[in-house]
Amino acid sequence: MSGKAQQYPVSGAGLGLRRGLMNKLMADPPPEIDFMEVAPENWIRVGGKLGHKFRFFTERYPFLLHGLSLSIGAPSALNETLLRDIRAFMEEHGIEFYSEHLSFCGDNGQLYDLMPIPFTDDAVKYVAERIRRAQDILGRRMAVENVSYYTPTDTSLSEIEFTLAVLEEADCDLLLDINNIVVNSINHQYDAREFMLSMPRERIKYFHLAGHYVEAPDLRIDTHGAAVDEQSWQLLAEAYAHFGSVPTLLERDFNFPPVEDLLDEVRQIKSMQQAAEESMRESAHG
Ligand SMILES: [Fe+2]
Repeated sequence: MSGKAQQYPVSGAGLGLRRGLMNKLMADPPPEIDFMEVAPENWIRVGGKLGHKFRFFTERYPFLLHGLSLSIGAPSALNETLLRDIRAFMEEHGIEFYSEHLSFCGDNGQLYDLMPIPFTDDAVKYVAERIRRAQDILGRRMAVENVSYYTPTDTSLSEIEFTLAVLEEADCDLLLDINNIVVNSINHQYDAREFMLSMPRERIKYFHLAGHYVEAPDLRIDTHGAAVDEQSWQLLAEAYAHFGSVPTLLERDFNFPPVEDLLDEVRQIKSMQQAAEESMRESAHG
């Protein structure tokens, strides 16, 4: 990798902390996990026993926040109360980094379905303005994530053009989801590698990796309920070869296997990162 050193909020390999995993992880906190990520909406103002459990993890691991319901592309007013709550939550737990989906989830938020923003110039301006406002309220930069989608609403711009334009116009960072690239590339018949290579290195803060459901050869559903598939591992390896060893978080939202299986995937991420670092060191020494 050439150019200046990348500034990442964390390093290594992480795991999304889900309530269904907490007891098992508390019993024996895995040293191979370098960081964790949660949705702030699930934890703001959670106290009592559950709040204590959350503290157990925030005291042991670096954390990142990945929002679910800001609905940054929605036609309704930006939820500034939520953003102020997130800022306070970050200060309370010493969490430095927040990201959201580059999508919208209906006018009243809270739906888990994330819908794509129309890929148009007007939408770029609209959403970029909202991201800038969000960053002002948060008092820090945020990242947006490339989402999986099934019915694009307007494709005046390509997804690559749209994503690059939002990053530029909003001056925000990118959370690059490797699995979402694979899912979209199959569902919308484009080249996953080309999409990945088009993303700006200096804005990438970390990667997401997850498994998806194979509905049909040409239809993948982004479930986060399965092991990471071969195509995503392959694209991840290519992404490390191109961008260097970017911190990577494994997302698993349901259908939880034994923790050991998730840790196997975490270890695979780490060994791929190490291999990428070694090969870069070798090529630097000529
Ligand atoms: Fe993701």
